[in-house]
Amino acid sequence: MSNRPLRKVVIPAAGLGTRFLPATKSVPKEMLPIVDQPTIQLIVDEALRAGAQEVVVVNGRGKGSIEDHFDRSYELEDTLQKKGKKELFEQIRKISDSVRIISVRQKEPMGLGHAVLAARHAVGDEWFGVMLGDDLIDSEDPGIGQLWRVAQETGKAAVALMPVPEDQAHMYGVGAGPLLGNGPHVLIDRIVEKPPKGTAPSNLAVIGRYVLPPEIFPILANTKPGAGGEIQLTDGLAQLAAKGQLVGVRFNGVRHDAGDRLGYLQANIAYALKRPELREGLLAYLREVTK
Ligand code: G1P
Repeated sequence: MSNRPLRKVVIPAAGLGTRFLPATKSVPKEMLPIVDQPTIQLIVDEALRAGAQEVVVVNGRGKGSIEDHFDRSYELEDTLQKKGKKELFEQIRKISDSVRIISVRQKEPMGLGHAVLAARHAVGDEWFGVMLGDDLIDSEDPGIGQLWRVAQETGKAAVALMPVPEDQAHMYGVGAGPLLGNGPHVLIDRIVEKPPKGTAPSNLAVIGRYVLPPEIFPILANTKPGAGGEIQLTDGLAQLAAKGQLVGVRFNGVRHDAGDRLGYLQANIAYALKRPELREGLLAYLREVTK
């Protein structure tokens, strides 16, 4: 692996978004806004800040608005220009100019491992990132870039890990193993998807960022359905871990679970509080309603 930026990332976006029904009946959950940006745009921004140039979006049915969002919108741009709304025009133009989006279809929702496998031909024979839209990592130093650095330093695949309370471990993939050198990262020797309560090998949960070698594709092609009857990415990673080829990265940054209703609301508040034009008004409102 040469010392180069990560070029491609895969964003699986074929899920049904059942936790956000009825909003997600006709709007993909990836398009639900955090303040005024679709969630997927925050994910794409993180990828771009880490140096990526190409984003492979794994779509299901009814996800055309994701492609539209990253495409040019001639009518909108024309109207904004005519109205002299220069700043908005530039903001809108930047979204479509800054990234190359490749859409691939996942024909059946057979799990995260299956979704990543659907990106095989678009990724080709190189290392790539996987970013899950439910997990926002708020950090100056982009989360996926932190993983890429560790992958380059070690030559091993990388997955983001974060400690969670014991009673929540069953909702995640969970990784365990000795510290790598003096830490904080971990050489994962066991990784389990959604361990039944009380059986998790550690309190370190997998958060949706991965940097993977192309060798993961044949592994996933041979991975049998696991937890929930789905082809799990975690089960593919377990095979890398068995060969000593998987590092758990204790990333810097605040993670929000935008796939959960409460987490989504919290993310909206956290991101709004960072906006100077919203901060004071929002704080005053929060003080008022929590009196
Ligand atoms: C997925 C992964 C799981 C990971 C989680 C993080 O699960 O399969 O290993 O811990 O994302 O958000 P999901 O939340 O899609 O069920």
